Amino acid sequence: MKPVTNIHREPTSDAIDSFRECRAVALAIPDGPALAWTEALNSAGIKVLDLSGAHRLRDEIHYGIPELWGAPSADAAVVANPGCYPTATLLGLAPLLRAKAIDATPVAVVGASGTSGAGKTPRDDLHFSALFGNTFPYKVGSHKHIPEIARHLGTPVTFVTQLLPIVRGILVTAFVKPTRSPQDVLHTLQSFYADQPYVTVLPEPGPGLGVAHVVGSHQAVIAVGPADDGGLVPVFATIDNLMRGAASQALTNLNLWLGLPQHAGLPQPLAHVGNDVPPMTRALP
Ligand SMILES: NC(=O)c1ccc[n+]([C@@H]2O[C@H](COP(=O)([O-])OP(=O)(O)OC[C@H]3O[C@@H](n4cnc5c(N)ncnc54)[C@H](OP(=O)(O)O)[C@@H]3O)[C@@H](O)[C@H]2O)c1
Repeated sequence: MKPVTNIHREPTSDAIDSFRECRAVALAIPDGPALAWTEALNSAGIKVLDLSGAHRLRDEIHYGIPELWGAPSADAAVVANPGCYPTATLLGLAPLLRAKAIDATPVAVVGASGTSGAGKTPRDDLHFSALFGNTFPYKVGSHKHIPEIARHLGTPVTFVTQLLPIVRGILVTAFVKPTRSPQDVLHTLQSFYADQPYVTVLPEPGPGLGVAHVVGSHQAVIAVGPADDGGLVPVFATIDNLMRGAASQALTNLNLWLGLPQHAGLPQPLAHVGNDVPPMTRALP
């Protein structure tokens, strides 16, 4: 592969010229620069798939989780790639709300993530000595994914996040009020995802929800219940934040947008994820 030599920090006309032959550009940069790059690339007639949060709250912009919202319109100029926590949360809850299998309130979600979700800039709380052998909540009440989840779920959410001493992977646990039996809630998810190779619905929660199963893959693993006396049902979802929560989901959105097969270029779906199956060992952090 040829080394990249045209690294640009600003969307100057020279920089935009270097993308002239691209049908679409994927931006994996912070929100502010993503806005400036999007405007400049769109002005040159180049589509932008934005992995940042800059376009995720805008009604007119397609929000790309293909299992939930299908393909972007071919003439769209911008597609917003969802955040990692929202992807996991929405995959678990959106089909249930659509089917009215759960009430719209309350929805409370706890998300736990590895450190790569915070990007590469070193921070005191991400330091090995601070996090190894430890776990703690962060950005409680102010996480930028709260409005994103609420908007695309169509209901207010209580959402808290927790850092784990691992590099990759997210496990979200949502507590919701079912309108039918937990078994029927599970069936709603099983039938919704029956034809989706990259979503596994486990028969019950357990070790199959371990992030080690999904790291390095595009797979989402989901499970439901059982209910206890509190009246709420837990809905779990686990993904790799860097793949399903970012890069591989971006690829599926680009594929659909540009008229290619949805799953072109993805790793194979995980055929054997289960509570009694050990996670595959992958040579990944
Ligand atoms: N990490 C995740 O799990 C995840 C999941 C979903 C979405 N996202 C989103 O994806 C984007 C990238 O995330 P990340 O975790 O890769 O962040 P990151 O590790 O902080 O990397 C950001 C990258 O953007 C570059 N950059 C910063 N300002 C730039 C500018 N003005 N022009 C061009 N490049 C610029 C940086 O280059 P330098 O190194 O040269 O500064 C760096 O390579 C963010 O918007 C993030 O919110 C991340």
